[in-house]
Order: sequence, then structure tokens, then C-alpha cells
Amino acid sequence: MPGLKPERIVILTGAGISAESGLGTFRDKDGLWTRYDLTEVATPEGFARNPALVHDFYNARRANALDARPNAAHSALARLEADWPGEVLVVTQNVDDLHERAGSRNLLHMHGALSGALCAACDHRWPAPREMDADAPCPGCGAPRIRPDIVWFGEIPYHMDAIAEALFQADLFVSIGTSGEVYPAAGLVQEARAAGAETLEINLEPSRVPGIFDRVIAGPASAAVPDWVDDILTGC
Ligand code: APR
Repeated sequence: MPGLKPERIVILTGAGISAESGLGTFRDKDGLWTRYDLTEVATPEGFARNPALVHDFYNARRANALDARPNAAHSALARLEADWPGEVLVVTQNVDDLHERAGSRNLLHMHGALSGALCAACDHRWPAPREMDADAPCPGCGAPRIRPDIVWFGEIPYHMDAIAEALFQADLFVSIGTSGEVYPAAGLVQEARAAGAETLEINLEPSRVPGIFDRVIAGPASAAVPDWVDDILTGC
């Protein structure tokens, strides 16, 4: 409930938390969707039409993500998970592994991960190589139908039951570095509010219609998130 010391914290992150690690966002100026047609590289139909183009796109993003380093915002969330007396769950829309590399453990990738590979024919999953090739056979069934284990537009995000359960129990919901343009992620704040959680947005600029969040902190994540973590840990 607003005002009580929050025991359970659910944190939703988006591309903005990785922006200062050099990974592009999607909808900012020069964002990925200003340079690529998402229907060609982030839909099942695009993959069916041209799997090689899709693999080129994700091979480039995988290489960028592997070369990037977690920033102070990722590290601050890992510190919060380690030092907070209650539970901290990070639900990320991001497919990079910067949260893991910063030390976050209680983490759900609702849009999948560049580090995962999936067979479109048999659903076999395995760790993705640095470069995936449309003609390579699935290690499980041998079919040349391998794809990145990424949730595309029109597909169901992962872990939705676990996320709904965590929101139902949440005392505090924090949204960091997301435009709130894509559902169901953009609707999580409403679920948290309905469950009685306090809601906080930390973003370069307020991303939604005013009033959805109880509180908004505007600023770059690498500064605003560590400051917020310091404040909340000081008060616990
Ligand atoms: N610090 C904090 N916030 C930032 C920073 C920064 N340094 N830089 C950008 N932002 C904010 C932007 O203001 C914007 O609100 O991050 C947000 C990025 O928004 P999007 O580019 O839309 O990214 P995201 O919200 O993660 O997109 C959601 O859309 O295309 C799909 O699957 C994809 O997971 C992605 C989903």
C-alpha cells in the first residue's frame, strides 16, 4: 500500500536502461525501429519471408550486446537485490544480458534473450552461438528452422503467469527506461496499481500520460537509478 515500507519490489526495465551501455533503444531518435522495418525483422511473418535477414539483424544485435558492458543502473539493481530485506524481481523487456552480467539473479526476460536459440519446427532450445545461420540444422530435430529465442510482435511474451503473481503481491512497482508503447509490458503498471502497489517511473523523460505513476524521476538511468537505490536502501 502507498506509504508503507515496500517489502516486495517489482522492477520493469526497457531499452533505456541499456542505452548508456551503447545499445540502441527502439523509438528514440536513431532508434532501431527508425532504421529497420520491424515487420521484416521482428515478426514470425518476416522470419518466414526472409530468415537470413532476421538472423543478420539479431547476429548484429548479439555482437553489440556481447561487446557492451553493464552500466551503473544495472549494477544498482543488482545491489538492491542483494541488500534489500524483501524480494526484488526484475522483469526486463530487453534481450541483452546486461542485468545478468551486473549480478541480478531474480530476473525474467519477458521478450526472450539474444543468448537463446529456438527451433521453429520442434521447439528445442539451446544456447545461441555468437552467429546464427538460417541454413544450420536444429541440434534436436535437424530441420533448418532455427531462430533467435526472442518474442516477436504478435507472439505471447514469456513468464506472464509469474509476472502476474509477482504484481499481485507487489508493494512497489518501478518502471525504468521504457516508453510504455508495447503491451502487455505497458499494462503492468495498471496491474500493480490494481493490486495496491506504489508506482514509480524512472525515465529520461516521463513516458506516459501524467498520473499513471504515483511518482516520476526524470533523468538518465545511470545516474537516477543508483541515486534511487541509495535512497531506498538508506531508508530500510
Ligand atoms: N535513461 C533512462 N531512460 C532512457 C535513456 C536513458 N539513458 N535513454 C532513453 N530512455 C528512455 C526513452 O525516453 C524511452 O522512453 O527509454 C525509453 C525507450 O523506449 P523504447 O525505445 O520504446 O524501448 P522499450 O520501451 O524498451 O520498447 C519496448 O518494444 O520493440 C519492442 O520488443 C521491443 O522490448 C521492446 C519493446
